[in-house]
Amino acid sequence: MNPDVRRAAQILRAGGLVAFPTETVYGLGADASSAAAVARLYAAKGRPADHPVIVHFADAAHAFEWAREIPTTAKALAARFWPGPLTLILKRSARAQDFVTGGQDSVGLRVPSHPVAQELLREFGGGVAAPSANRFGNLSATTAAHVREDLNVDLVLDGGASEVGIESTIVDLTSGVVLLRPGRISKMELEEFLKSEVQEKETNSPRHPGGLVRHYAPKTPALLVPAHALDAEIARRGNAVAVLAFSRPDERAEFWVRMPREPQAYARRLYAALRELDGAQCGAILIETPPESAEWDAIRDRLSRATR
Ligand code: TXA
Ligand code: MG
Repeated sequence: MNPDVRRAAQILRAGGLVAFPTETVYGLGADASSAAAVARLYAAKGRPADHPVIVHFADAAHAFEWAREIPTTAKALAARFWPGPLTLILKRSARAQDFVTGGQDSVGLRVPSHPVAQELLREFGGGVAAPSANRFGNLSATTAAHVREDLNVDLVLDGGASEVGIESTIVDLTSGVVLLRPGRISKMELEEFLKSEVQEKETNSPRHPGGLVRHYAPKTPALLVPAHALDAEIARRGNAVAVLAFSRPDERAEFWVRMPREPQAYARRLYAALRELDGAQCGAILIETPPESAEWDAIRDRLSRATR
């Protein structure tokens, strides 16, 4: 057993906060059954108390104890995608108290696959409430260094760069099958697996942080620019721009990050790239609009939030 993981589990038991790697992004964890620990978590993140938080478990059996109704769809999705980058919203059991659900009658459950997360969750034994390990509204963290830039926590477990790079796909199963947040697991993949249609919800309720107007956002104003307009936009703004694009650097721009044309590789790189562009402290970040196709849904979702 990794000695840091043992210490992390002790910190969680004592009501402290531990940042840990998952395959999507880093999480900031607290004991999900302790009101005091979760209050500390919200304070560290600067997050409003009525926002629900996802509870993490080592396996589906533990996760489902926090739900009072487990539809067959939930069992099927769990069997297929857990451990992995999927969060299920189910009607809560008595274990999921108001301080993790934001007072809602449902709870978000996830079983991450990252080996360090798995080890921690097994060692701890209970549910770990964990939002993304960043200050509220900021970009999610995909490395331990990103977490330390943003937050002051008791311990950061370092598990390398997150493999998926964007937050988990969230599916609400409390009434029908509704996609609340796209991720590595796409709507199409869910539909193919379930052999039925998945509804999509434009989550604009403040109850869902991902649904807030400005979220997952750099501090520098960012805007999406179609490929054909990029050249003119750079020329118009002079060299005070940082650019995220598929094409080769244009020397007129102050700072340039070239992105892969493959969506999973793009996602893996996205938050680190936005942090670099933000760090360049230019007047604006120009982001080349990604393709319209379904494989880019999750990326378009994050970019549209980063640029609002
Ligand atoms: O990949 C992820 O999901 C990461 C890692 C750490 O697991 N976590 C994450 O947590 O992104 P957070 O708190 O940054 O985003 C969780 C989203 C929020 O938009 C929240 O509103 C939604 O999940 N959520 C949690 N519980 C919910 C519930 N009961 N009903 C509806 N939405 C819920
Ligand atoms: Mg977040």
